[in-house]
Amino acid sequence: MAMTPLVQEKNLVFRLDAGNASYAFQVTPDGRLQHLYWGPKVEALEELTRLNGKNPYPTEPSLDPQDNQCWREHQLWEFAPEDIGVYAPATATVRSAQGTQVTDPRYVSYRTFPGKPALPGLPASYGQEEECQTLEVLLEDPATRVQFLLRYTAFRNLPVLARSLAITNRGDAPVELRRAASLTTDFCHESLDVVYFDGFWGKERCFHREPLQGGLKVLESTRGLSGHAMNPSVILCERTATEEAGRAYGALLVYSGSFAIEVDQSPLYRTRLNLGLHPQCFQWLLNPGDSFQTPEALQGFSAAGLGTLSRAFHDFLRNHLIPRQWRDAPRPILINNWEAMHFDFSKEKLVKLARTAKANGVELLVLDDGWFGKRNNDRNALGDWIPNQEKLDGTMGELADAIRAEGLKFGLWFEPEMISRDSDLFRKHPDWAIQTPGHSLSYHRFQYMLDFSRPEVVDYVFDTISQVIQEAKLDYMKWDANREMTEVGSLALPPEQQGEVAHRYVLGLYDLYQRLTRRFPQMLIEGCSAGGGRFDAGILAFSPQFWTSDNSDAFSRLFIQYGTSFFYPCSAMGAHVAVNWFPQRYSPVETRAAVAFAGTFGYELDLDRMPPEELAQVKAQCQFYHQCHHLVQNGDYYRLTSPYENNTVAWMHLAKDKSLCLLTVVFVRYDAAYAGENLRLPGLDPQATYSDGTHTWPGNLLIQAGYPVTTPKNGDMLSLQILLQKE
Ligand code: GLA
Repeated sequence: MAMTPLVQEKNLVFRLDAGNASYAFQVTPDGRLQHLYWGPKVEALEELTRLNGKNPYPTEPSLDPQDNQCWREHQLWEFAPEDIGVYAPATATVRSAQGTQVTDPRYVSYRTFPGKPALPGLPASYGQEEECQTLEVLLEDPATRVQFLLRYTAFRNLPVLARSLAITNRGDAPVELRRAASLTTDFCHESLDVVYFDGFWGKERCFHREPLQGGLKVLESTRGLSGHAMNPSVILCERTATEEAGRAYGALLVYSGSFAIEVDQSPLYRTRLNLGLHPQCFQWLLNPGDSFQTPEALQGFSAAGLGTLSRAFHDFLRNHLIPRQWRDAPRPILINNWEAMHFDFSKEKLVKLARTAKANGVELLVLDDGWFGKRNNDRNALGDWIPNQEKLDGTMGELADAIRAEGLKFGLWFEPEMISRDSDLFRKHPDWAIQTPGHSLSYHRFQYMLDFSRPEVVDYVFDTISQVIQEAKLDYMKWDANREMTEVGSLALPPEQQGEVAHRYVLGLYDLYQRLTRRFPQMLIEGCSAGGGRFDAGILAFSPQFWTSDNSDAFSRLFIQYGTSFFYPCSAMGAHVAVNWFPQRYSPVETRAAVAFAGTFGYELDLDRMPPEELAQVKAQCQFYHQCHHLVQNGDYYRLTSPYENNTVAWMHLAKDKSLCLLTVVFVRYDAAYAGENLRLPGLDPQATYSDGTHTWPGNLLIQAGYPVTTPKNGDMLSLQILLQKE
């Protein structure tokens, strides 16, 4: 079946079909790009052009290209021009050599082709020629002769489009980019809700849903990293939409630096959605002939609620974004020594931990912070990636061999982008830190950020880190980043390019990721940023999993993992069994494990100091994980209830062929009046019969009436895990 984007040549109407969704826009008679439709699949093409509503202004502007009235707010835009009467945030703003900012490009040409090209220097989704089709539309601003290439890739089996913008200066004079969004799309619904995910260290991706009100709402990071405070993702949905019903539109930026998501609703019920680089943290000099490529944005649609939208994004990120070699490869059950030992470890302690871990079914040991330079606390040595042989009682290669001799794989922690105030590297290269002359450098955790806009800095880090990876033959690397950017500036760039530093930093970061993943393709990289501070699709393109939060308290994780699950698959969420994090709040180890099962499973505690009755369960937990991790990694994830609204928090993982289902339920607070409830299990095969090991259940009954659950005993934070097997 051909899936070429449909083009109506006469009126230049474009329609892209992706999965069960369609997306359409058109070239207006005056050559601008107008949005037409995003929703369930439709067959229409030319008829879509009648959808734009009417102009409430008394004098209708004609469609005559010569008629240049500035009443343009009622139109829906696909490329929103700057300063011609559109007012809601523009797609791109170019400052000309004369210092003016009107940006109003007109249509030049289009082309379509099978497959999807890579984006130079940036992570992006991928697809085979038979899986996706690309449409490119070229516009040019007549005054500056800056060209804008809008690129759309539609995927055959998923309702997802990947988009980006490439900007080229074809004029004779340099210009400056002031704004360059990856995605603009307009809606004309009256009542939409906006869903977004903000947070803090230990409290990542809090779910918020609120009605869109008039005016501009900006979800943003100006921190140089996507950061804890806001995730680069957003959902607009019908006010009546639920997990299982209603229209939902999701957008996700494939980027790890400062970003802005602008949602602007006008009294005309036009809603602009822009996603891209944060205009406040971005300027780019484009000399004649130069091009600039924006990051990619992904947009997904569901006509069947937020759950279906999430599952589309999960499938998309697993099949078209994370490194191919980790798509189906089982992730090792790991033990990380950080919470068990912090900086106070020795070879003897690590080998002992490895032995106990192996005996209980763990597969990989990760040595966290403190193995390099003179680092015995967080005050020094970042940048000095030289193993501390005294502390390790030998070389790193010898330690790795000793861990492998116990039957475990071996991994190490790095913080590649950072430099401690107290480090040999900073003493030698103080100019390598991000800084602004004349202003003092602010530190966090006694460290600065390396100036990754300078290729020689990235080269240095690549070389030094590669030596350690090679020596230890690492199976795994934890890539941390524990601070955000301040006093942004580079000593290596001229004044007119200082506005480029934050984005050039991210390009340097991606360059390092790319070089390391190419050189060591067998090494699994887990992202981390003071917990889950840079959990974004840009990093997932290199690291298939990310440490979701430093907060491993099971109750807090119910919220953090719930919020994370709206866009990101469970296979991307690092989740470990830890000791009870807060002395005031106790969760039994069964519940801590049940919550960690919903991610890439592991342990973050000292097994040798675990209470014996808890240690006795570790082996069974690891076995259970092996039995059903494929559901978590490749299956469909259903949020059954919300921790924000329910005392019974439940979710399920269902095999794609619906043959096996893992139902997990956490009963948060003990409630003397709780008499149990039936949890409906959507998604099962209604024709099939399922067994829970004791009873058999018609699939249709489980879908419509539910599965009966109740607390196993009295207490807080109790849990159940039920496997339902199709008979
Ligand atoms: C960060 C990470 C932790 C741990 C420490 C080590 O806080 O999120 O998991 O690696 O750094 O310093």
